[in-house]
Amino acid sequence: MQTLRKKIWKLYRDNIQRPYFRRKVYTDSGEEKYILKKYYDTHKLKHLIVTLTYHCQLHCEMCGQVETPVDAPNSQKNWTQIPLDVIKNRIDELQYPLKSAYLFGGEPLIYKDIFKLSEFLTMKNIDFTYSTNGLLLKKYTNDILDNPPKMISVSMDGCTSDLHDSIRGLKGAWQKAIDGINSILDEKKKRNLKYPLLKIHFTIIPDNYTTMREFYEFYINKFPMIDEIKFHVPRFNDLKMGYEYFNTMRDKFDTYCLSYQGNFSEDTFVKDCKNKIDVKALYNDITWLLEQKKVSYLGPTDYDELHKFFKEPSYYPKNRRCECYKSCAIQPNGDVCACGDYPDLKFGNIQNDKIDNMWQSEIASKWRKYLKDEGNPGVLAKCSRLFDTIKSSNF
Ligand SMILES: C[S@@+](CC[C@H](N)C(=O)[O-])C[C@H]1O[C@@H](n2cnc3c(N)ncnc32)[C@H](O)[C@@H]1O
Ligand code: SF4
Ligand code: SF4
Repeated sequence: MQTLRKKIWKLYRDNIQRPYFRRKVYTDSGEEKYILKKYYDTHKLKHLIVTLTYHCQLHCEMCGQVETPVDAPNSQKNWTQIPLDVIKNRIDELQYPLKSAYLFGGEPLIYKDIFKLSEFLTMKNIDFTYSTNGLLLKKYTNDILDNPPKMISVSMDGCTSDLHDSIRGLKGAWQKAIDGINSILDEKKKRNLKYPLLKIHFTIIPDNYTTMREFYEFYINKFPMIDEIKFHVPRFNDLKMGYEYFNTMRDKFDTYCLSYQGNFSEDTFVKDCKNKIDVKALYNDITWLLEQKKVSYLGPTDYDELHKFFKEPSYYPKNRRCECYKSCAIQPNGDVCACGDYPDLKFGNIQNDKIDNMWQSEIASKWRKYLKDEGNPGVLAKCSRLFDTIKSSNF
C-alpha cells in the first residue's frame, strides 16, 4: 500500500505538477519547524560546461567541430563569445553552488576573458579544468598560474612533430605544445604551486594507435613531473546512428540536430576507424598501458566490447548513463544545452533566463526522463564519455 502511494505521488510530482511540500527544518535555537518548499526536479546541477568559443587555430582530422555544417551549433565557424559578466552573474545567482566547471572549446585559451573567468571561479571555490591544444600555453603561462585551474589537459596526438602536426593540421604545433608544457611546469615549480595538475591527452585514432607505447615512454621520460597520461577512444558514428539521433530528436523534442555531422559519415575517419584498426594489437597495448605509472584510459576494456566499438560503429552498450543528469553546457552564444559535445537540444539562453530556471524547465525534465526511460538516442549512446575513466594499477 505504502509503495503504491509512493508511486502515485511520484507520478503526480514528476508528470502532473510540481507542488509545494512541507520540509522539517531547525531554527538557530534548535526548535523544529516546517517550511513550505516548492518541489524541484531532484537532479541538482553540479557541473557546468562552458564552451567559451568554437574558434580554433587548428583543424584536427578527428575533431567533430571541423566538419560540421556552418549552421551547426558547434561549427568552428561559430565565433560568438559570451560576455563575461553574463556568465558570472548567472553562476552567481545559482540556487545550489556549483561543484565544478569545464571550460571547453574550440580552443578555450582564445577566449579573451578566460583569465578573468578563472579568477572568478577561483574566488567562488568552483573547481575548474580545461583542455587545450597547447599553442598558447607558453604565451599565457603567468596568467594561467595566477588563478590556476585544478587541471590542464594538453592534447597530444603523437610523440613526434611529424605525426602530431599532420593530425593537427599545422606544422610547428607539436613544438609549441612541448614548449608550453615546459613553461607551465617550470613556472609552477618556481612558484611552488600544487595546481594546475598537468595531463597529456591522447585521442586514439587510426593514424596514431600503433604508437601508444612509444608515446607513453616518450612523455613519461620527457616530463617526469607530469600528473597523468590519458588515452581516449574517439567519438565516431555511422549513418545509422546519426539518423537515429536526428529522427528521435525531431520526433520527441522538435529539434533539428546538426552537431553530430562532424563525427559521422561512411567514409574517411569513420571508415578508417572501422577498417584500419587492429583491435587485438590495440587491446594488448591498452592492457600494457594500464600497468604503467600515471596512465588513465577512457573506453572499453573488455576485448569483445573494444572489437565491437571499432568494427561495428552502430554498436553501443545500452546501459551506460550520460553525464546529462548533473550537468549542462553553455554555448558561445549563451544557449544552455543538454550536452556539450552535441549541443542541439536547448533549454534556453543565459541572456534571457536564469540557469536554474532552464535546468528545471519542462524541456530539461522531459529530456532527463527520456534518458532514464529510453537511454541515450543514436549517436549519444556511443559517446566515449559514457565509459568510466580507468586509472592504471600503479597510478
Ligand atoms: C574538442 S577539443 C577542445 C579543446 C582543445 N582545442 C584541445 O584540442 O584540447 C577537446 C578534446 O577532444 C579531443 N578530440 C578531438 N576529436 C575527438 C574525437 N573524435 N573523439 C574524442 N575526442 C576527440 C581533442 O584531442 C581534445 O583532447
Ligand atoms: S585543437 Fe581542439 S578544438 Fe581545435 S580542431 Fe583540434 S581538437 Fe578540435
Ligand atoms: S552524450 Fe556524452 S558528452 Fe553528451 S552529455 Fe552525455 S556523456 Fe556528456
